[in-house]
Order: sequence, then C-alpha cells, then structure tokens
Amino acid sequence: MHMEKIIIAPSILSANFANLQKDIQMVENAGADWLHIDVMDGHFVPNITIGAPVIKSIRKVTNLFFDVHLMISEPQKYYQVFQKAGANLITFHSEVNTDKKNLIQDIKYFGIKAGISIKPKTNISEIEELLPYLDLVLIMTVEPGFGGQSFMDNVIYKIKDLKKLINSRKYNCIIEVDGGINDQTAKICINAGANALVSGSYIFSSNNVKESIQTLKI
Ligand code: DX5
Ligand code: ZN
Repeated sequence: MHMEKIIIAPSILSANFANLQKDIQMVENAGADWLHIDVMDGHFVPNITIGAPVIKSIRKVTNLFFDVHLMISEPQKYYQVFQKAGANLITFHSEVNTDKKNLIQDIKYFGIKAGISIKPKTNISEIEELLPYLDLVLIMTVEPGFGGQSFMDNVIYKIKDLKKLINSRKYNCIIEVDGGINDQTAKICINAGANALVSGSYIFSSNNVKESIQTLKI
C-alpha cells in the first residue's frame, strides 16, 4: 500500500494538435495534476514536436503545472526560452553533453523546478551525484521519441534502486516515469517507488478520461 500522493501528468503528444485547448481543459477538468509537454529537436531523438511558442499559447488557457520534457541536444541554449514560455519544471536528458550541475542550478535560479531524465540504457550511477540538487528524476520506460510504445519491464529495477537511494539519503526528489504507462504498468511503477506518472496514449485514447486518470492513481 502506497501512502504518497501520485501525480498524473497527461502527455499532450497524444492530444489533438488541432484543438489543444479543448484537450488540455479536458484533462484539467478530469483531475490531471500536471501537463507533460514533450519537446523534441529531431537530433537528440528521431522526431520533431513542438517548441516554446506553443507552450506560450497554451499557458494562457490552463492553470496546470507545466512539466516540460526537453529531448533536445543543447538544453543549455534553450532552457530560458522555455522558462519564459511558462514551464514550471524543466527536465533535460542526462545523455547530453553539458555541465549538468550548472544547468540544474541555472534552471532553479528562475524559481522553477529542475529535473533530469535517463533513457532506458542509462544507469542511475550517471546521475547519482546530481541527486542533492534535483527536484525530479524522469526514468524513461521506453526509448524517447514517440508516444504509444510498449513499457520496458527491464527498467523497473532502476525505479527501485533510485527509490532506495533517495530514501536512505533523505533527498527531496520526485521519481517520474514516462512511456507505455497504462492501468497495469502504473501499478508496477507505483509499487517500485514512482511518485509521478506520465501517460499519453492511454489517457487520450480513453472514452472516459476522468476514470482513466483515477485508475492510474490506484
Ligand atoms: C516519449 C515521450 C512520452 C510520450 C508517452 O518520448 O517522452 O512523454 O508522450 O506516451 P505514451 O504514454 O503513449 O507511451
Ligand atoms: Zn515525455
């Protein structure tokens, strides 16, 4: 039995881009806690999605907390633009080539939260020394790039290991999971120690969004 509050972050990658306002307000009214926004540059991942102008526009139509997932090669060049557009949390990837501790501190300097994400093949040890500075670690449970992929079971041990580390050192750091999250895989992740669940296709393909969001929390 888990006691912590579980944060549900619908990913707008699976929303209708011709009517983002409607879909965002739908998940907001259905009890979403955060809105997960996937930014891809066609370089770090083999797909291109949306940038800061879209975030700035949707900022005007919702009060949801903006969880911005940067799948881009040079987050150090762009984080300020995303902060100005309305991000409440900026997560960049551990696999990029930049001074990560510095970037975390730069993001937090603006009064917003900073997270780091690891791809399925990246180990926890890569980010261990950054944990004292991080608000969140995003564990990818699929290869980043596309919605609608299948959850990778072999990543579960990383959620457990990270949870142990955070608890034993009393860090204040959220564990978020992203990729292939549905009613079944959500339970596995919560039991392993995840506090925040990103879900795209499961939520947006449902004909009862409120019910699916509730189901993910249990
Ligand atoms: C994938 C993105 C995810 C994606 C999740 O690279 O980071 O946020 O939208 O979609 P589902 O829940 O459909 O796997
Ligand atoms: Zn994402």
